[in-house]
Amino acid sequence: METLLESTPASPVSTGTPLLQLQGISKRFVQDIDLAGRIANLMGADNRASVVHAVADVDLEIRPGEVIGVVGESGCGKSTLGRVIAGINPPTEGTVSYLGKPIGEMNATERRAWGLGVQMIFQNPMASLNPRMRVMDIVGEAPVVHGLVKAKDKAEYVGALMRQVGLDPDYAQRYPHQFSGGQRQRIGIARALALKPRLIVCDEAVAALDVSIQAQVLNLFLALRREFDLTYLFISHNLGVVGHVSDRVVIMYLGRIVEVAPTETIFSAPNHPYTQALLSELPTLETTRRAYQPIKGELPSPLAPPPGCAFHPRCPHAMPRCQVEAPLLRTLQPGHTSACHLNDLSA
Ligand SMILES: Nc1ncnc2c1ncn2[C@@H]1O[C@H](COP(=O)(O)OP(=O)(O)OP(=O)(O)O)[C@@H](O)[C@H]1O
Ligand code: SF4
Ligand SMILES: [Mg+2]
Repeated sequence: METLLESTPASPVSTGTPLLQLQGISKRFVQDIDLAGRIANLMGADNRASVVHAVADVDLEIRPGEVIGVVGESGCGKSTLGRVIAGINPPTEGTVSYLGKPIGEMNATERRAWGLGVQMIFQNPMASLNPRMRVMDIVGEAPVVHGLVKAKDKAEYVGALMRQVGLDPDYAQRYPHQFSGGQRQRIGIARALALKPRLIVCDEAVAALDVSIQAQVLNLFLALRREFDLTYLFISHNLGVVGHVSDRVVIMYLGRIVEVAPTETIFSAPNHPYTQALLSELPTLETTRRAYQPIKGELPSPLAPPPGCAFHPRCPHAMPRCQVEAPLLRTLQPGHTSACHLNDLSA
């Protein structure tokens, strides 16, 4: 895929008010006891509802024009974070601000601007596109409802968007199943663009596609960024995919951010042992087969994260302190933060 991808364009990142800001964001889910557990309780067992700490105490600023990659293993809270940013899930704690205004203090007009301004694109376009709707309506219905385009201009609007995402407007009356996987993802992109968003959260948006199609779709995202002045949050379990398109990378482990750095720094000078482990898992151009070092040990359950540094059971550098004290994110260089006790030793 590397050879097919365009390089990331120079970032037109603004330094002013963040487009979106997260302060102390946590999201917990309560998982009720299942039927078997309830029956066991009737017989004297003590099963209780469990709490998943999907996202824990996350601070993040997304600046206009930047592309942020969010990377971590399955279940570390990436999608939950994306859904909080897009307003699909409210956080349990913390503040989300859009264009400098906390969501809780917004009036109806400002909330609407946030709702339209942040759009999400999902991994499986087949599941996220209504199979009984034609592309014309999948893409064109919401902008008409929200008054972004007049009903009489809908066909022209949808046709122009289809062209911009590389689809033939003559296919506007077709249904999602009549397109290939890559084309369906383009429909999903056109649907998001139709609402004139400022920020697009792409949740594993290319993961389900063939490798060569992945590169085409990633290149489309980069081209649209320039054309529509977009900001992106790319969520992926694959540091390689995200590295090609992001200005900055956020590494998550069991709901927490463990390292944030410019993409170049993540690859050339990763600080956190978890980031280093993720990098050693990446197949390189030389290794045609995946001859890498997998991260040792099982990923712990987010239902019962290990005490201290959650990575300590798998960390090759773990010290006694790591088992009892959670490391805080520390700034190593401007723009580079990491949460590891080793940084205290080297200070
Ligand atoms: N609606 C929900 N109810 C209960 N638990 C949930 C819910 N959504 C997510 N979780 C739990 O929260 C944790 C984080 O899930 P999330 O989907 O955000 O992870 P992820 O990093 O996106 O994983 P993946 O790479 O597999 O998509 C997981 O343990 C998951 O089971
Ligand atoms: S705090 Fe300790 S266990 Fe956690 S990553 Fe650093 S050295 Fe490893
Ligand atoms: Mg996910």
